[in-house]
Amino acid sequence: MFNRRNLLSLAAVSVLAIGAGLPAFAQDITIKFSHVVAPDTPKGKGADKFKELAEQYTEGKVKVEVYPNSQLYKDKEELEALQLGSVQMLAPSLAKFGPLGVPQFELFDLPMLFQNRDELRKITEGEVGQSLFAMLQDKGIIGLAYWDNGFKIMTANSPVVVPDDFLGLKMRIQSSKILEEQMNALGAVPQVMAFSEVYQGLQTGVVDGTENTPSNTYTQRVNEVQKYGTVSNHGYIGYAVIVNKDFWDGLPEDVRGQLDQAMAEATEYANSIAEEENKAALEAMRAAGTTEFHDLTDEERAQWAEVLRPVHDEMADRIGADLIQQAYDAIAAN
Ligand code: LMR
Repeated sequence: MFNRRNLLSLAAVSVLAIGAGLPAFAQDITIKFSHVVAPDTPKGKGADKFKELAEQYTEGKVKVEVYPNSQLYKDKEELEALQLGSVQMLAPSLAKFGPLGVPQFELFDLPMLFQNRDELRKITEGEVGQSLFAMLQDKGIIGLAYWDNGFKIMTANSPVVVPDDFLGLKMRIQSSKILEEQMNALGAVPQVMAFSEVYQGLQTGVVDGTENTPSNTYTQRVNEVQKYGTVSNHGYIGYAVIVNKDFWDGLPEDVRGQLDQAMAEATEYANSIAEEENKAALEAMRAAGTTEFHDLTDEERAQWAEVLRPVHDEMADRIGADLIQQAYDAIAAN
């Protein structure tokens, strides 16, 4: 039974907790983790892994609700929802930070910047990655981790093998000025469209083609509405796992430590499966036979590079010439 003393201390805990912007009881902590892709993707699996580990390490004090496939919010809305605190965690593609006022993340969209994942790691695990996260603080957001998806393929209903093949094609892109410029450089007409609308956009002919990773292409069934694909690896798609800063800072320290641990392990897991997931998706699409795939030859790649590399200089003002140089230096370093 509660006596007066119990009641007073209970009230004190509640006041403290409310003062810290927390629910009165620690076991009430819920993290809504919203994302736009299918559960069966590197990001989807990473989010589910984080849920599993977070609930295990906090011994149920924290509940993680994962909402895949734009169930709660589409691309742009989810960033607004995070800032408003309607959701606590997201993992948007690095191409989607422009509308948030941090276009520097579009660095990752520069065509032909990374030759492989080792080069990419030099950015995500180095100073450039950290300095990008620091830019989020002002926006009420904390960057927790970088998660991989993979390198992109191009798809359309006509062959897209050499740059001239793109002339006049309406190509769906994510909301990144770099990607817009990349498509312009190829002679295509870029069109920003939410991820959840891509399949229908292609099916109805609102757009003619798109670029994405094999995993996203396959899990959205884009291959069913695209006759041709080119394995070009011309660019990269990855994610920043981000949280609402007030929420994160307001967590009890021990809980935050347990969540940090869960995130570190989920990150390792997500990044260890991403390459394989994309390979399997490409194989599944080749086997499905609805899309005819072409693997870019070295000669064709040189033609793409000639057209696409100038995008780096053209976009220097948007990202920052210094940041681009810092990225080049990090990639070139041993
Ligand atoms: C897209 O919008 O094309 C993708 O980046 C979606 C995602 O989160 O992978």
